[in-house]
Amino acid sequence: MRDNENVVLEPCSADAPRMLLVPYKPEHVQVYHDWMADERIRELTCSERLTLEEEYENQVSWHKDSKKCTFIVMDADVQFEQPRMVGDVNIFTSLEETDNGQQALVAEVEVMIAEPASLRKGLATWALRGMMAYFLSIRPDTARFVAKVLDENGASLSLFARLGFTEFRRLPVFDEIHLCVDLISDAQAHQRLCSELANWSRRKYASEGADISHDGQPGMKIDQPCAECSTESPRHHG
Ligand SMILES: CC(C)(COP(=O)(O)OP(=O)(O)OC[C@H]1O[C@@H](n2cnc3c(N)ncnc32)[C@H](O)[C@@H]1OP(=O)(O)O)[C@@H](O)C(=O)NCCC(=O)NCCS
Repeated sequence: MRDNENVVLEPCSADAPRMLLVPYKPEHVQVYHDWMADERIRELTCSERLTLEEEYENQVSWHKDSKKCTFIVMDADVQFEQPRMVGDVNIFTSLEETDNGQQALVAEVEVMIAEPASLRKGLATWALRGMMAYFLSIRPDTARFVAKVLDENGASLSLFARLGFTEFRRLPVFDEIHLCVDLISDAQAHQRLCSELANWSRRKYASEGADISHDGQPGMKIDQPCAECSTESPRHHG
């Protein structure tokens, strides 16, 4: 989707890891493609192995697709010279019919932290928190967030449970457990996500400044304040 094409989100809460959410751009495709060479990652994320060319086409189609929102997760740990691309967080939307025959907007969330050195630092937790809060701010009609997780994926089940997701369906034929946060019936969850945006600052992504650094990571230039938001993060990188 184009809504987040220049949006950079950075948590400004003291208990958050140093990280950024940046829009998925052509300069991220090669690293993303390299991650997808790993069969286990493909299995856990239900992804197919694509050629590099197909991956570039996907980046363009996801960008244009109003039903799909993607951020790349950057680990901005002080040990790195510059933030490193380590994973992604996605939303796919669909319309589902409710019991009373109305159409409800359902947002399916997915997260992946592909770099082993960046696991268990809270990045997936915060990526999901930031993504869901951002998405709700641009689509306040979202009725529920859904996660579809393989039943063998204990890490992911635990991650989503900690974020308040509860199981509502099992699909044994696909080995899947479906969990959700229902914003219509759970006013507290809705309120929590509305308040979550206060934990994030927002800046503008300047793609034209991106290059490839010495270690093959896409470079980035994000120091321009966002036109729509005067909030400045207490933390700055670089
Ligand atoms: C699941 C995944 C996203 C977790 O990423 P992460 O950044 O390491 O997760 P966090 O650090 O935010 O962990 C949050 C909680 O999730 C649970 N968790 C995460 N990894 C876990 C693991 N390997 N084993 C058990 N629990 C785990 C824990 O409860 C953890 O809290 P804790 O560290 O305080 O114990 C990551 O392992 C991954 O990308 N796996 C492959 C792709 C995938 O399974 N995606 C989910 C499909 S939607």
